[in-house]
Order: sequence, then structure tokens, then C-alpha cells
Amino acid sequence: MIIAANLKTNLTRKSTTEYINSLEAYIKSSGVSQDVLVFPAMSALDSFNSSYLSVGAQNAYPTKNGAFTGEIGTEQLDEFNITTILIGHSERRHILGETQESIATKFEYYKKLGYTIVYCVGEPLQKREAGKEEMMEYISAQYEGIDTSYENLIIAYEPVWAIGTGLTPTLEDIEEIHTDLKKKSYAPLLYGGSVKVDNAKEVLALKNVDGVLVGSAALKVDDFCHMISFAEELQK
Ligand code: 13P
Repeated sequence: MIIAANLKTNLTRKSTTEYINSLEAYIKSSGVSQDVLVFPAMSALDSFNSSYLSVGAQNAYPTKNGAFTGEIGTEQLDEFNITTILIGHSERRHILGETQESIATKFEYYKKLGYTIVYCVGEPLQKREAGKEEMMEYISAQYEGIDTSYENLIIAYEPVWAIGTGLTPTLEDIEEIHTDLKKKSYAPLLYGGSVKVDNAKEVLALKNVDGVLVGSAALKVDDFCHMISFAEELQK
């Protein structure tokens, strides 16, 4: 399974290094065989070069370099041998205003370079409440311009209303949506949105859930390791 931590705008360069060192020590000593991914804040990217986990970028612009104030490109990612990127996260869609078109352009750029892309989809509460059909239409629009058969693709289903709120869909709902989304792409499908130690095992055990993308509950490295241990126990 794939167990991923999105650290968002949290931790410093120093505390991220400590985090990754502790995580690596845990994976090494416990013989973990799951794929572990960490997305640190931009300023904490570094050459971690670990064979036990992968470090990815939460965002980058589709460019090598240039005049794109506030963004980074592959020149900066290459410095740290980063070849994994998160694209389409709901915070970038809804807070930073990324459109599906710009997201698809970014996807295409990083796909051509062979990056592992964790591509996020998910509906806001209003779409969820509008019923299954409207909700699935909304999510389907997030697949526009995306090569769903890309070999290095990982998809993360993250309902916007479940992110950072402590709310989650029921286990039945997660399984049902994942089963529907698997028809759109065979790529590994992660669930994200208020995953924590208390619910991670049940979520990971669901059919068509190939891992989790964890935000706030991954900030404590011991908790994140605990969630990795659940995946290890399940050995799906
Ligand atoms: P939370 O786990 O804090 O709900 O965040 C999920 C998320 O957005 C991961 O990308």
C-alpha cells in the first residue's frame, strides 16, 4: 500500500529533517514494505535520498526555470533529485484558484518528465449534498485532460469537506466511491480527508483503497508510523 504524508505549510527545514530521519529509522527497524511518501513544505525540500521513503513536492510550476514569482520548477526539484509531485490538491484548486486547465497542463508537463504524480480529486460539501449523480459529474470533470493510464500515476480521493475537519464519509461511502473511481483508472487509489490513527486501519482495509494521504494527523511522526504499521499488518 501507499502511505503518504502531506505536511502542507507545517514544520520547518529543521523539524522536517528530524521528522524524515525518525520516519526512516522506523521503516528500517520495523522492516516496513509499504511505499511511504512525504510531501514537506517547499522550504524544507532537501536531498534526503532515502531508499526507505520518497520525498515529493507539494507543488511546482510546469517549467524548468524562469520568471514565475513564488513558484519553483524542475531546476529546483532536480537539485534534490525530487521526482514525485502532488497535483490538483483541493487547497490549490479552491484557495489558490488553480483551474482544471492549468492543472492538466501541469500534469502533462510532469508526466512527460516521468514524475510520479499523486493526483487529487474530490467534491465540496455542496456537491456531495446535491446527490450522487451531480457529485460524480463534478469529480469526473477533475479527470478532464488527465491521462488516467499514465504508468506513474497515483490518484487520491479527498472529499474537500473532509479535509482538516474531522469529518469523514462513512466506510461504505468511501468504498462505493473508490469502486466507481477505479472504473476511471486502474492507478492506485488513496483516500484522504481526516485520516487519523483512530480510523486509518478501517479505511485501509476497504476494498479499492490502496493507501491513504494524511494531512494533520501525519504531523506527529509517531502517529504517522502507527498508520504505516496498520498497512503493514493488513498486507493487502
Ligand atoms: P487532513 O488529513 O488534515 O484532513 O488533510 C488531508 C489532506 O488534505 C491530505 O492531502
